[in-house]
Amino acid sequence: MKKVFVKSYGCQMNVYDAERMADMLAGEGYAETKAMEEADLVILNTCHIREKAAEKVYSELGRVRELKEEREAQGHETKIVVAGCVAQAEGKEILRRQSAVDVVVGPQNYHRLPDLLKRPRAERIVDTEFPIEDKFDHLPAPTKAKTLSRGVSAFLTIQEGCDKFCTFCVVPYTRGAEVSRPVAKILDEAMRLADAGVRELTVIGQNVNAFHGEAADGSVWSLGRLLHRLAEIPGIVRLRYTTSHPRDMDEELIAAHRDLPALMPYLHLPVQSGSDRILDLMNRKHTGDEYRRLIERIRQARPDIALSSDFIVGFPGETDQDFEDTMRLVADIGFASTFSFKYSPRPGTPAAEHDVQVPEPVKVERLARLQNLLETQRQAFNLGTVGQTLDVLLEKPGRHPGQINGKSPYLQPVQIESEAVKIGEVVTVRITGKSSNSLFGELIGHGGREAA
Ligand code: SAH
Ligand code: SF4
Ligand code: F3S
Repeated sequence: MKKVFVKSYGCQMNVYDAERMADMLAGEGYAETKAMEEADLVILNTCHIREKAAEKVYSELGRVRELKEEREAQGHETKIVVAGCVAQAEGKEILRRQSAVDVVVGPQNYHRLPDLLKRPRAERIVDTEFPIEDKFDHLPAPTKAKTLSRGVSAFLTIQEGCDKFCTFCVVPYTRGAEVSRPVAKILDEAMRLADAGVRELTVIGQNVNAFHGEAADGSVWSLGRLLHRLAEIPGIVRLRYTTSHPRDMDEELIAAHRDLPALMPYLHLPVQSGSDRILDLMNRKHTGDEYRRLIERIRQARPDIALSSDFIVGFPGETDQDFEDTMRLVADIGFASTFSFKYSPRPGTPAAEHDVQVPEPVKVERLARLQNLLETQRQAFNLGTVGQTLDVLLEKPGRHPGQINGKSPYLQPVQIESEAVKIGEVVTVRITGKSSNSLFGELIGHGGREAA
């Protein structure tokens, strides 16, 4: 049997796509391997969001090329595929920069991989045209065993692409226009996942709360409505969604945080900056105060909600005052966990053309100050859960026998010691302590309260 090795960079959408590629290639006689050295087919599923992410691909390709040559010397052929957002953005340039690459395929075209791989070797291919057909209609479902081997928590893509055009971002170009999957297809996939033993579903999209999927009766469902329906699926006890845009947090979705016990009290809602001037230059279409008021409404609906966000420092033209506005917004809101980045100019995006780029040392200093504050907030949040009784979804065995790891409703890793529990179970745990990245707890009961 041939073997395929898939490595994914970037966001959850890429994780999902990598799994779909593996499922599709299983039908073509490829078994998945975790060891690149033994792979007949190596797929790098790439990310173009920041320069570092994109450049990483070329250094990795250098290593893959060496491997290809070594295997060739032993009489084995290795095919190299570059998929994902760098493939979409750079296309032919990848073939030019790395001669060992056989196929370049964009995120909307990977359902064609089986065909592309059958072409003669000399014919190096780039397939990045946005197709008319829907790739999801061509992707086979994994077996039950395969689904379960990936864990009790699964991603499900419900929406792809983005029409927001934030001035720093490549996603609208690499993933194309925003498209929602039809409700029936999403429900089919969710039921199949639940049937295989999945307990937690995270519905994903580049702009997931812009979801507007068509239902069988022709009506259009919002994300709030979809979440209500997903919560009815037997076996699904936890729901999450990511990534959302502040502009698309509608009443129905906020109300779902109040009304749906299965919807976990955790929200990743990127704000990027606290300065109105910078938010405007970024084309985010809201102010700092609008974000604060939105968070207030969400907290009224679900007082214990844990908040997460993304930040960019050093956006072109960002002054000390603009940066202080970001620090103030962070201090006002209080985040449980976050991602923060130095602005990275991306080819083809409007912000990259801006003539006032912030010098690197200033970016470095601002990022350090921001991350310091965010880390203090994260530790404070985690400390605040010590002593609480929380539901924990058990996900995988711990490092030592008798140890088992799971997640709190707030997405914190929790470690417990017990022989009497099993993976996939929601248990009630008293949090007894913490390390820098996880919580420790003791089992209080089975069943949990959130599922009730
Ligand atoms: N759709 C999501 C974000 C997807 S990209 C949203 O609207 O928020 C994930 C994060 O990467 C962004 O939130 C942003 O913080 C960061 N990012 C995107 N482009 C970037 C760039 N050019 N430089 C630095 N960070 C960037
Ligand atoms: Fe990028 Fe903005 Fe779209 Fe998010 S909303 S994917 S940051 S363009
Ligand atoms: Fe990266 Fe593409 Fe996701 S650029 S963040 S892999 S949508």
